[in-house]
Parts: sequence; C-alpha cells; structure tokens
Amino acid sequence: MSLTRVPGLLFGGDYNPEQWPEEVWAEDVRLMAEAGVTMATVAVFAWSRLEPAPGAYDFSWLDRVLDLLHEHGVAADLATATATPPPWLVRDHPEVMPVDAAGVRLEFGSRQGYCPSSPVFREHAVRLATAMATRYGGHPALAMWHVGNEYADHTLECFCPESARHFRAWLRARYGSVGALNAAWGTSCWGQHYTGFEQVEPPRRAPGPVNPGQLLDWRRFCSDALLELFTAERDALRAITPGVPVTTNFMSLLHGLDYWAWAAEEDLVSDDAYPDPADPGSHVAVALSYDLMRSLRQRPWLLLESAPSAVSWREVNVPKPPGMMRLHSLQAVAHGADGVMFFQWRQARYGPEKFHSALLPHGGVHTRGWQDTLRLGADLRRLAEVAGAATRAEVALVFGWESWWGLEAPESMPSDRLRLKDLLLSWYAPLHARGIAVDLAPPDRDLSAYRVVIVPNLYLCTAEQAKALAAVTGELVVGPFSGVVDASDQVHPGGAPGPLRDLLGVAVDEFWPLPDGATQRVRHADGGTGLARTWAEWLRPDDDVTVLARYAGGDLDGLPAVTRRGRATYVSCLLDDVTPVLDRVLGDVPALRVPPGVEAVRRGRHLFLLNHTTDPQRITLPFAGRDLLTDTDLRGSVGLAPRDAVVLRIEGDT
Ligand code: GLA
Repeated sequence: MSLTRVPGLLFGGDYNPEQWPEEVWAEDVRLMAEAGVTMATVAVFAWSRLEPAPGAYDFSWLDRVLDLLHEHGVAADLATATATPPPWLVRDHPEVMPVDAAGVRLEFGSRQGYCPSSPVFREHAVRLATAMATRYGGHPALAMWHVGNEYADHTLECFCPESARHFRAWLRARYGSVGALNAAWGTSCWGQHYTGFEQVEPPRRAPGPVNPGQLLDWRRFCSDALLELFTAERDALRAITPGVPVTTNFMSLLHGLDYWAWAAEEDLVSDDAYPDPADPGSHVAVALSYDLMRSLRQRPWLLLESAPSAVSWREVNVPKPPGMMRLHSLQAVAHGADGVMFFQWRQARYGPEKFHSALLPHGGVHTRGWQDTLRLGADLRRLAEVAGAATRAEVALVFGWESWWGLEAPESMPSDRLRLKDLLLSWYAPLHARGIAVDLAPPDRDLSAYRVVIVPNLYLCTAEQAKALAAVTGELVVGPFSGVVDASDQVHPGGAPGPLRDLLGVAVDEFWPLPDGATQRVRHADGGTGLARTWAEWLRPDDDVTVLARYAGGDLDGLPAVTRRGRATYVSCLLDDVTPVLDRVLGDVPALRVPPGVEAVRRGRHLFLLNHTTDPQRITLPFAGRDLLTDTDLRGSVGLAPRDAVVLRIEGDT
C-alpha cells in the first residue's frame, strides 16, 4: 500500500510561494514538472498570511498555488500552517508565548513561539486547521496533511503558570493523590514533601539539582503536552477529511519526544534528517535514525526534509560534495523511505535560511545543484517499484524514551558521559558494517520474532519490561547500567540489574565509571583483548554463569566484564569493539560482507549498495540481478565509483 495516493517514490520539498512574487510561481511549477517533482509541502509557516486578522481568512493566494501545483502534476503535503502564530495573536494574547526555565517569557520574531499548554493557542490552531480542511478537503492536489512542524525543535517545554496548571492536571491523572506523588518522587529527600497538588510546580531553575523523579515526569508531560496539541489538530482534520493521511515531521533520534507514542497517533511516519557532510561517520548515525523511522510503525515512511547541500544552522555549514545528495537520498530509500523530500524547493533570498541550500539554488538552472536535482528526480523514477517494499530484520535494538530521559538526567548520575546514542551506535555501527538489517523496538513490544535482541541500555526497567525480555526466544544481549531504576526513577531493591537479576545471573556491586580519556582492558575468553571506555562495573556473578570476558588490569583486574546465562549475555561496560560478542550471538543471521564504507541494505527484492567512500570499490555480488539505476544486468561483481550506488532487483527467488 502506498503512503499516499501518489504512486512511486515521492520527490519534492518545502515550497514557500508566499516568500516570492506571484510571477515566480509559474516558473516554479514548470521547473518542478521538469525535475519530476511529485509533492510539495506547502504553507508550513503561512498562518500570518492565511489569517491576517482574527477569523478573517485570505485563502485566495493558496487557492492559486494549489491549482498551479495540481495542473503540473504536483501533489500537496498541505500544512495546517500552525508552526508560527501570527503577530496579532501574540499581541492580543501575550501568554501564548513560551516561558523558559528561568521565568523569562520569549518574544515574537522567530518561529514556534507558542506554549504547548496554551488553550488560546490550541483553540486558534484548531480553528485554522478546521478552516484549512474545510477549504481544501476536496482539492485534487491534497495528498496528505502536515500538522505543525518539527514539534520540540525550538519549543519543547514552557514553564508559565498555564503549563504549571496543565502539569498538575497531568500529575493528578497519573497519581490520583498527592501521597502517591510524594512516594513516587521520593519527596522525603531534601524536604520536598507536598501536602497538595497546588504546591507542585514545573522544574524551573532551582538553587541546586532538581528532584529526578519530578524531572522524569516533566519529560513525560512535555512529550504528552505537545502530542495533545498535535492530536487536537489531527482530530479536527480527520473529522472533515477522514481519508487523507495525517503526519508531522519528526526529527530523527530526538531526545525530547517519545516517538513510540507519537507514531501511534499519526497515519504515516515522516522524518527530517540532516547528516553533517563534514562528519565521515554521519551516514551510519543517520541509518540508525532511518531504521527507527521504519520501525516506529513497522512500515515504510517518508523522508520529508533533508538538505540538497549545505544547511544554515551549524556553525560551519559544509556543502555536500558531488554525488552525496543522491547517495544520501538513495540511502533513505534503502532503509524504508517511500519518498525523498527536501528543505526547500527554491533557495530563499531573505530570512535566517537564505544560505540554506535548495533544490533550485540562487543561481538557477545553470548550477550544479539544479543538475543534482534533475538527476535525483530521474533516479527516483527508475526506483518506483521499490515503493511499499518491506524490510525484514532478524536483529532488534531495544530502547525507550523513559529510560533515555532517566539515563541522561542532569546532575545526579554516576557519570553524565554514558549517553544513549553512543550506546546504541556501539552496537548499530558494527551491525551496519556487516550489512545486517536492524529494527528498533520499544522495551514492551513482543520481541519473539527476532533471532537476536540487543538492549544497549535499559536504565529504567519495569517488571513488565523485564518479563518481555525474559520471553525473548532468541539471543538476548543486555548492555551496562540496565535494570537500575523503576518507573519512578527509584533504585530497584537490592540494586542493579533489578528485575533482570535472574535472567542475567549477575549482581552489580558497584558502578565503575571511567574518567574522560581513560581505558580499561578487557580479556575475552578466547584470549583476545579489547578496551572499555566511559563505563565499567564491579560484577558478582552467580555460580552457574559463564564468564565470557574479564577486566584485565586496574582495580577491576580479573573480575567479570561480559557474562552469559542461558541465552542471555550481559555486557557490563562500553566496549570499543563488540565484535566478539556479536560473533557469538549472531549465528547465521544473514550478513552482506562489503568493504568498509560501503553500505549494503536489503529492502524486499532489492539490494542497495552504497559507496560512502571517496574511492572506487569492487563488490562481489551475493545475487545476480538488474541494476535499476543503469538498467543493466549484473552478476559476479560490480565496480562502484566514489559515492556511487547500485540498486539491484534480485533475480529469481531468494
Ligand atoms: C527543518 C525545518 C525547516 C527548515 C530546515 C532547515 O527541517 O522543518 O523549516 O528550518 O530544518 O534545515
């Protein structure tokens, strides 16, 4: 099933015609058609132009834009335009602007200036979404709805009195009584015992470290509050246009929002991804976030924004060298995207993003950028048959946002160097290098379909989650500092790994974080050695536990580092190289061996080979088939130029 009614792989970008004189629009749509653009995201920041005065709409210009797009075969990902409130709303209701943790109310002049809990903002946003759906529900260009924009990009939280009221209501619903809140937050520490909900405030700037239980609930609340804002608009749209899919663009592996919960509320998952061209490892980190997007709903997703070349928001904005835009786009398709879209169509002449690259650069159709646009459009047309194809993964990486929030709480942890993204990548990168497909999964999902389940870290682990992990039928690998606290961020009785104790057969006597730059040697049972950084633990294994690696040297000398009971492996440190563990647990999980820097990704009947290096590569083909990009038959081996790609339709039944 395709994501929208538009066939093939979607191609296009954000289109902001309101930033241009109308004479330019005709050229826009003509060039879109020339490049094979099939979808444009419209009106994301257009509220002030659509509703110039309260309740007085001016849709005339957007009518003409949508008509023009439709006449040129371009569908609309139509935004509800609520990503920035108009100045009149802020002047009439200054309380819609967010307040920071120090109590400063932010001012108008940028974007996303709203308090997530503001009823006034919500009412106006829903009113506009309703007006948009009423006006455009029957327009033939409308293919999908785009609500808000990158929630939590600038505004994740607000500390105003309205947010405080909303937080209290959320806490009442969660705990029922202030006694239960006191117990959950451990308010007997540092004399914080509350005698009524009205005394509870958001975790504003305080003299010292803030109660971690309060912070964890605040993180949950902030994700939920923005989600409520999204679903309010979504419901308004669904009531009028039930058949039109609704999305909001995610921001890859974002700390602030629980995307497992968010994805369940939208019709299709879409993502914005901006790998840094200056970072040679960025294609690995971005592959992880693409796999997350595919895993959120376990179906294809849409890359809704990416950069054709440089962005404008890093300190140094390096352009994409020739070939990289195409390669990165094909990479997204390899990892399950059914479309590749960009920010933005025409490069702006003004505003903070005037130096951000675009499909149509300042220099127009004679630029290398425009040639890249034409080439990518043609390539995506050649790959149309890939749309809808599923990915089959036998390995799952498990993580959840609550645990992430707990793990990275400020000022109260054994080490603030233990970061979830590093932990995930320490496993993902070597799997990616072997061409092994990986799903991401939340800790409470049924994991029985996977042959190998890796939990890089589950600091916060409930009894139910431990039960789900114990039910894993394949190999289970659990990383360090897991099973430490319960849902209230309280240490499990008896210490780590808490509810995982029996499953893993180890007790953690002491956490042993390593100072910056320090390493701890580890000796594997086969005699090989490795290094741990950042984190180690003093373990006490049960008698029936096999020790797969021991710490070598230093204060932990001779103590177990990696253990195994049954099919459950525990890794108590952050290893530089997890190869010995992977070699043991992967068994015959299908891998695709390719040279370093070349990515091999299987999607349905297609094999993507992506050369991220600047050297030519020769690759032995595991299958014969037809390269869809060059329309040639390949067998045996194939040569890949620097930053080139092959997309093989595998021959026969595999
Ligand atoms: C995000 C936003 C866009 C734009 C780009 C720039 O994707 O959604 O509006 O700011 O970043 O990279």
